[in-house]
Amino acid sequence: MDLDWKNLGFNIIKTDYNVRTVFRNGTWSELEVSSDEYLPIHMGATCLHYGQESFEGLKAYTGADGKIRLFRHRENARRMIRSARGILMAEVPEELFMEAVEKVVLLNKKYVPPYGLGASLYIRPLLIGTGAEVGVRPASEYTFLVFVMPVGPYFKTGFKPVDMMICRDHDRAAPQGTGHLKVGGNYAASMSSISEAHQKGYATAMYLDAREKKYIDECGPANFFGIKDNTYVTPKSQSILPSITNKSLQVLAESMGMNVEIRPVPVEELAEFDEVGACGTAAVITPIGKVVDVEKDITYTYGDTAKAGPITTKLYETLVGIQNRDIEDSFAWTKILD
Ligand SMILES: Cc1ncc(COP(=O)(O)O)c(C=O)c1O
Repeated sequence: MDLDWKNLGFNIIKTDYNVRTVFRNGTWSELEVSSDEYLPIHMGATCLHYGQESFEGLKAYTGADGKIRLFRHRENARRMIRSARGILMAEVPEELFMEAVEKVVLLNKKYVPPYGLGASLYIRPLLIGTGAEVGVRPASEYTFLVFVMPVGPYFKTGFKPVDMMICRDHDRAAPQGTGHLKVGGNYAASMSSISEAHQKGYATAMYLDAREKKYIDECGPANFFGIKDNTYVTPKSQSILPSITNKSLQVLAESMGMNVEIRPVPVEELAEFDEVGACGTAAVITPIGKVVDVEKDITYTYGDTAKAGPITTKLYETLVGIQNRDIEDSFAWTKILD
């Protein structure tokens, strides 16, 4: 492949194939393989007007043994089912979701970056209402497709601390809204604040709970965690996306003898953590060097702002080590594809 694996960003790159299936009259069609990057859809499709859409994000990795692995893809299948239920879309059965993901990776095998370069194949499953409706009601037809592209780190710095800006004048999700689902509306609602954060020189915006603005919700497209007193602390909130990476880090922290607390995290607690970070499939673990509460004129700084703290580093190395097979996968989180 003629790709500069070491300098990949997080951008669309055309690969050879995607896979698709349509839900019509109560059943999903056979998976179809396509090379077309476009979709012919009715202009009245509910995904276009009423946001009936959900997506997922996961990765395939080349291991030290040269084999391609997926990480916990059943969890993505389950989360997409929860998203579909939440906004009344047809559910993609777990087995169909996993078959589609496995198939599209194998079809695009040559785009899976080699081991050891910090790159991976990003997999984007998408479920959209393609049936036409002009009234606000669920579509009777849906399309599920999966496409892939090789990517580097989401935050340009890779595993180096970034700065985050607390966002007090926007909410990405309402307290009883759709924040816990991976649906497009949440991302549309986050665009202006994330763009403002970028313009001011921050990696992304940190959201607080929409009801009281007292507790940390999450960091752009990633969950938040803080480390203190041998404890991994992460927010409990109805309006954050349950991250598969975060769930995995909780297990790893416990296996390292740490305590794990999942509870509301007051903003002021930022002053008490020794290390803080953002985690997610795209972000992997991104250490945070500084959190700036612009409106309150407070800056929270962590250790050496140019280097991740020791626990964050250990969590990162263990997680990535399992994904790349540098470390034995004792949790059975990975599936070998070839
Ligand atoms: C809003 C949001 N939070 C958290 C995450 C991290 O979730 P995961 O670890 O499952 O990728 C993502 C990415 O999927 C996200 O979009």
